[in-house]
Amino acid sequence: MSLTDRPLHRVESAVALDRPAGWLRDLGQRLLRDRRIKDALHGVWLGHPLHPALAQLALGSFLSASLVDAVGGGRRESSGLIAVGLVATVPTASAGWADYTDGHEEQQRVGLVHAGVNAAAVGCYVGALLRRRGGRGGGRLFSVAGGALGAVAAALGGHLSYRQASGANHGEEVQHVGPGDWRRVERLAELPEGEPVRRVIGDVPVFVLRHARDGSRTDERVSVMSDRCPHLSAPLHEGQLDAVGAELHVTCPWHASVFRVDDGAVVHGPATAAVPGFETRVRAGFVEARVRTLPGVSAS
Ligand code: FES
Repeated sequence: MSLTDRPLHRVESAVALDRPAGWLRDLGQRLLRDRRIKDALHGVWLGHPLHPALAQLALGSFLSASLVDAVGGGRRESSGLIAVGLVATVPTASAGWADYTDGHEEQQRVGLVHAGVNAAAVGCYVGALLRRRGGRGGGRLFSVAGGALGAVAAALGGHLSYRQASGANHGEEVQHVGPGDWRRVERLAELPEGEPVRRVIGDVPVFVLRHARDGSRTDERVSVMSDRCPHLSAPLHEGQLDAVGAELHVTCPWHASVFRVDDGAVVHGPATAAVPGFETRVRAGFVEARVRTLPGVSAS
């Protein structure tokens, strides 16, 4: 076991945290009912989780202030950096809270501690500013203590992202392991119309939808994409299909991300990455598919 495994495992398996974690989740879900605001906080518009990008500014400013104070640098500079960190904390915490509401239990336990340690760090920085305004000493000490707490919070955030894969794209590997050559999926006549099913191509579970005939269309269309939601890997073929104008959308059964079936694009978060898609064709009565790769990416 590595140095950090044991304490981090304790946090993520601490069921005693479930009650306050659930309270924080429920409150967030109540406050973030407006889907446009929630999507914006997740980073759907950016195509990338927003929280880690904002955290660079908040944490970077705070830690810089702590370093300035630790080496006896200028108080004015340090106070300016703390002020920037405090302003950046509001959107950073809001984006993190939005992501938190759609995490699984283990992620929420770590997320709760991450938020608590961050709150303590912010309290230290506020204390540093207040002591300076009051002309009292101790501001540097508060600032350095805030930096130490911020570093612990950052480590917990790193665990959430890298070990618990919160905010990671759970479809990334499909580009690499999905078959690059044409593979048979199923006999066309055996696929149900208008009802997604799960099949496996190579090593990749895929969502397969034979579009229902609408009377005016004579072509047979089949959409194939990864069956794993890029947010946290839910089986998309269990999601709900909806026709929205000329588009067909599927809603993830776990946290209600919405994707366009034609190309896997994200319509609503919490997912911020598209579902990897497959090219399809029909040969000799069989649906065939191969992974649709990005330029410069090679599939197996
Ligand atoms: S697994 Fe969370 S939205 Fe799909």
